[in-house]
Amino acid sequence: MSVITIPKPATQARAATAATMKAFVYRGPGKKGLEDRPKPEITAPTDAIVKIVKTTICGTDLHILKGDVPTCQPGRILGHEGVGIVDQVGSAVTAFKPGDRVLISCVSACGKCDYCRKQMYSHCTTGGWILGNTIDGTQAEFVRTPYADTSLYPIPEGSDEEALVMLSDILPTGFECGVLNGKIQPGSVVAIVGSGPIGLAALLTAQFFSPAEIIMIDLDDNRLAVAKRFGATASINSTDGKAVAKLKAMTGNRGVDTAIEAVGIPATFELCQDIIAPGGTIANIGVHGKKVDLHLESLWDRNISITTRLVDTATIPMLFKTVGAHKIDPKLLITHRFKLDQILDAYETFGNAAKTKALKVIIEA
Ligand SMILES: NC(=O)c1ccc[n+]([C@@H]2O[C@H](COP(=O)([O-])OP(=O)(O)OC[C@H]3O[C@@H](n4cnc5c(N)ncnc54)[C@H](O)[C@@H]3O)[C@@H](O)[C@H]2O)c1
Ligand SMILES: [Zn+2]
Ligand SMILES: [Zn+2]
Repeated sequence: MSVITIPKPATQARAATAATMKAFVYRGPGKKGLEDRPKPEITAPTDAIVKIVKTTICGTDLHILKGDVPTCQPGRILGHEGVGIVDQVGSAVTAFKPGDRVLISCVSACGKCDYCRKQMYSHCTTGGWILGNTIDGTQAEFVRTPYADTSLYPIPEGSDEEALVMLSDILPTGFECGVLNGKIQPGSVVAIVGSGPIGLAALLTAQFFSPAEIIMIDLDDNRLAVAKRFGATASINSTDGKAVAKLKAMTGNRGVDTAIEAVGIPATFELCQDIIAPGGTIANIGVHGKKVDLHLESLWDRNISITTRLVDTATIPMLFKTVGAHKIDPKLLITHRFKLDQILDAYETFGNAAKTKALKVIIEA
């Protein structure tokens, strides 16, 4: 028996090139790079393949690059935010078709498990925050999105897609974990500790509820100045260690009804405990890697609540409407723009925010 080798026609060779894409890859602590990777394929009937139009970098991606997120292994394509165009859908996807413009949630939700039925999508038993963590993410030309029907959102005609990139993660995070959990009401006195993208997202969305005061606390004067432009009524630079005394002076020695922790270190969670008024709520957003003391010796009689939450992105549909109606402008958070092949520069800029004054950087694929 003889084996006949058929030479590869030129068209096949072109198809092979077209099936690769550029992707930003975590290569282990401190190591990263832009690589050519195979274009993702549908692996479950509920999947979609989305061609990325715009994505961004999250503080969590910086944590991954330092090696702080053990679930994310070397070789992973990073990114859990973005807007794009549906390229292919699996046979069970009914809500989307190729060509549809979509927002990608940072959380994948099966829509069927007990947690999804409670809208706790972040705890979905087969989903949650997996994109750019345990499966390949959005900092690439294409991404495979599991559970497309319940994890993608249609982008209304004429929307500003750059603004919508902020709805994949940071706006729902600030709103759900900070504003809703913090029970902000008309007339509330609010402090937000941390004026990074997440603290600023909480600041923007807190204003839906007309609080009387929003006091921003940070170490960075530039970020505090940005916060003033975004609607903060006062700001405190806490570098001198006198934030508690200053805030008490501003609030008639009372403290605040809602203290939102948007940093993720012991000092800032303790600060929240020092400034909370009787009956108040401490809403933690920060991801904590170290244990923090709870001062029940001073809080036991103060009727306070403490909440924690991983973003569920359950409020994306509502946030879409507020952006469409110009009630908030998430585009204010965008400071820099890059192309995908400049993503290493984008990381450099985002990672040196104190120097570059970066908040959110847009990466165009
Ligand atoms: N719960 C969730 O689902 C969720 C989702 C996304 C992000 N996060 C977490 O939210 C936190 C904020 O995210 P980000 O992207 O805005 O981070 P960021 O690092 O950009 O911003 C943090 C801000 O805190 C300030 N800061 C640092 N130390 C401080 C101190 N001692 N006192 C006052 N301010 C201080 C910094 O100057 C900076 O402006 C992070 O811990 C992040 O991991 C949580
Ligand atoms: Zn994120
Ligand atoms: Zn689920």
